[in-house]
Amino acid sequence: MLEPSTTAEPRLEFVKLPSAAAEHAFSDDVRAGLSAASKTLPSKYLYDDLGSSLFEAITHLPEYYLTGAETEILREWGWEIVRMLAGSIELLELGSGSAIKTRLLIEEALRVQPTLRYSPIDISFDALRASSTALVERYEKLHVRAYAGDYFSVLASRELRFERPVLALLMGSNIGNYAPDEARALVELVGSALRPGDGLLVGTDRKKDRATLERAYDDPTGVTAAFDKNLLGRINRELGGTFDLKAFDHVAHYDEARGCVDSFLRSRFAHRVRIEALDLEVTFEPGERIHTESSYKFDDRDIERLAVAGGFRVAKAWYDAGHRFALHLLER
Ligand code: AVI
Repeated sequence: MLEPSTTAEPRLEFVKLPSAAAEHAFSDDVRAGLSAASKTLPSKYLYDDLGSSLFEAITHLPEYYLTGAETEILREWGWEIVRMLAGSIELLELGSGSAIKTRLLIEEALRVQPTLRYSPIDISFDALRASSTALVERYEKLHVRAYAGDYFSVLASRELRFERPVLALLMGSNIGNYAPDEARALVELVGSALRPGDGLLVGTDRKKDRATLERAYDDPTGVTAAFDKNLLGRINRELGGTFDLKAFDHVAHYDEARGCVDSFLRSRFAHRVRIEALDLEVTFEPGERIHTESSYKFDDRDIERLAVAGGFRVAKAWYDAGHRFALHLLER
């Protein structure tokens, strides 16, 4: 049970911001994406309740080394990361964060300062409520001010308030799911929300050999394929679609020139699908693909360029023992 707060300030606050996304965004995006000459669906729709559970399962797969490698860096270097900014800090996380990774940094910060404010931003109020409540129950000296909304609306809003130097967290290679111009815009926006002396910790998956990358996004257990196909399941559930999930194969392809693993759903044969809520018929040729996700990979120079674009400089980088994943601290 959450103990009653002994201070005037409650230990858990929620700020709900109207999302920039329109109410009909999902149906509009599905119509536009499946009517395009090269079919595509935005990867943000992979994360309904079932999709979020499947992604959580992906993070436990041996082939999907990213989560384990990032956790390894935080276990080894978390103590140094929280000491990089001057004095007591507060944390701002883009995404409500995986329990283990965020907890490692919270615990390290609470070793060097008596109290800590943690401000997660997440589009899903339910995910935010669950993770924030668990955190204040666990850490007596933690104050959580949680923002429900998309990153762009929250970062641009006046609701965002800081009292101490801020260490912003953009971990889990989440930045890799943005197209390069969007990633730059996001880092720029974080930069404009922060002040000189604040920092942004960015977690990225490193460019590496094709086989390792393609296996990470097409595991033999088939969890990633299920995660990807759930997007079609979601269209069936929410928009009255008639997708037969068995009519598609999940494909992961590393485009070395762009440094990006692209995920696709490829139709096995010619067929038609109806989407009732959109009054739309979609036809598929044999082998025709729907692009469902881009997962960009980075090297130090890519991060350097991103930092400069956002008004930051790279203060330090940490790597796992296998140099598969990196955490870069960008300073304002
Ligand atoms: C959340 N995001 C960073 C994951 C990635 O690696 O692009 C999503 C994912 N897609 C397939 N596997 C994991």
